[in-house]
Amino acid sequence: MADLKLQGLRKAFDETVILHGVDLEVRDGEFMVFVGPSGCGKSTMLRCIAGLEDITSGDLFISGERVNDVPPSKRGIAMVFQSYALYPHMTVAENMAFGLRLAGFSKQEQTAAVQRAAQILQIEHLLSRKPKALSGGQRQRVAIGRAIVRKPGVFLFDEPLSNLDAALRVQMRVELSRLHQELKTTMIYVTHDQVEAMTLAHRIVVLNAGRIEQVGTPMELYHQPVNQFVAGFIGSPKMNFIEGQLVTAQDGQAQVKLAEGSTIAVAADASALKAGTQVTVGARPEHVLARAQPGEGTVRAHVQLAEHLGDTTYLHVLLKGAAESMVVRTEPDNPLNTGDTAHLAFPPARSFLFDAQGQTLGSSTRASATAGRP
Ligand SMILES: Nc1ncnc2c1ncn2[C@@H]1O[C@H](COP(=O)(O)OP(=O)(O)O)[C@@H](O)[C@H]1O
Ligand SMILES: [Mg+2]
Repeated sequence: MADLKLQGLRKAFDETVILHGVDLEVRDGEFMVFVGPSGCGKSTMLRCIAGLEDITSGDLFISGERVNDVPPSKRGIAMVFQSYALYPHMTVAENMAFGLRLAGFSKQEQTAAVQRAAQILQIEHLLSRKPKALSGGQRQRVAIGRAIVRKPGVFLFDEPLSNLDAALRVQMRVELSRLHQELKTTMIYVTHDQVEAMTLAHRIVVLNAGRIEQVGTPMELYHQPVNQFVAGFIGSPKMNFIEGQLVTAQDGQAQVKLAEGSTIAVAADASALKAGTQVTVGARPEHVLARAQPGEGTVRAHVQLAEHLGDTTYLHVLLKGAAESMVVRTEPDNPLNTGDTAHLAFPPARSFLFDAQGQTLGSSTRASATAGRP
C-alpha cells in the first residue's frame, strides 16, 4: 500500500517544458485517473512516477519517501502499458513469473504468486499457452497478471485498453474495477477516454498542456467544472457552448443575449462583469429541452439531423447566427425530425456560464466550483 505526493513536478525535454510544476496527492488505495487530450503529458507524468523519466525539478514522494533518485525497480510500482510486451517464446505462466525469477524468488514462491494472480484474473486455464494463442483481451490480462505477482504498492496503467475493441474495453473496465476492489492497491490510470475515466475513477485529474485543470470525483467534474476546458472534456456527447453577451446580472442570475437574438437566463453570478461583456453559455445535451411548439423563452433552431438510437434520440440543431450545430438529447418519442424547426428551452439552473477567459462563473444553485485549480 502506498500514497503519492507530487510537489512542483516539472519535466522538460531540452528546452521544451512538458509538465509545468504539477502538485498532486494520490491517497493510499485510491483509483486515480489522469485524463486529457493526446499530447498533454499524461504518459510523461506516469513515466516520471515510475522512474522511467528523470524529474527535471520538483519532488516525488511515495509513502512519504522522496524517490526522485530511487531507481524504478526500488519504487514498489508496477506498470501496465497499452502494448502488452509479452515474451513470445515463454508460456503465460513463465511470462508472469519472469520478474520474480529475475528478483531471485524461489520456484515455489513464483508458482504460488502466479497461481494467485491467475485466479484473480480468471486465466488459470491459459497458463501453459504461448501469447500467440491468446486474444487481445487475454494478453492484456496476462500483462496485468505480470504486474500483480510483484505485489506493488502502486499500479500504473498507461491506456491499457486502447488496443481492444469496444465491447472488450467495457468488459475489461468492469474487471479492472473488480480487481481494484479485491486488491485495494493504489492505482493510477492514464486514458484519453473520458468515459473510461468517469467509470473507473475515485478521482480524476484533468490535464491540459502539462497543467492540471481540475482534480475531483467524476460527479464533481460533471456538476462543478471550474472552467470551460473541463466542462467540455467531461460528459458525452460534450457540452454545447453558445456565444452571447451579458445583458444583466442580478440575484445570482444572468441574462444573456445570444447571437440568434433571444435572451436566456442562466443561474450564475456574473455581477463582476459589465453589461455587454462577451460570455459563453454551456448546456449539456441532456439538459436542453427540445419541443415542436414555441413556449415562453424558447429559442428557435433548425434540426439538421435526428439520430434515432432506440433508447434515445440525438438532435443536431443549428441556432441562427451560430457557427456550429449543437446536440440535444431527447426521449425517443420526441416528434421532432430532420428538417423540422425545434424550440429549445435552457433550464437556468442546469446551464453554465463562462467568462471570456473560460472560467466558470459561480452559481448558488450549483455548489461552488473551487476544487483543483491553484
Ligand atoms: N522523449 C521525449 N522527447 C521529447 N519530447 C517528448 C518525449 N516524450 C514525450 N514528448 C512530448 O511530450 C508531450 C507529452 O507527451 P505524452 O506525455 O506522451 O502525452 P500523452 O500521454 O498525454 O498523450 C508531447 O508533446 C510529446 O511529443
Ligand atoms: Mg500517452
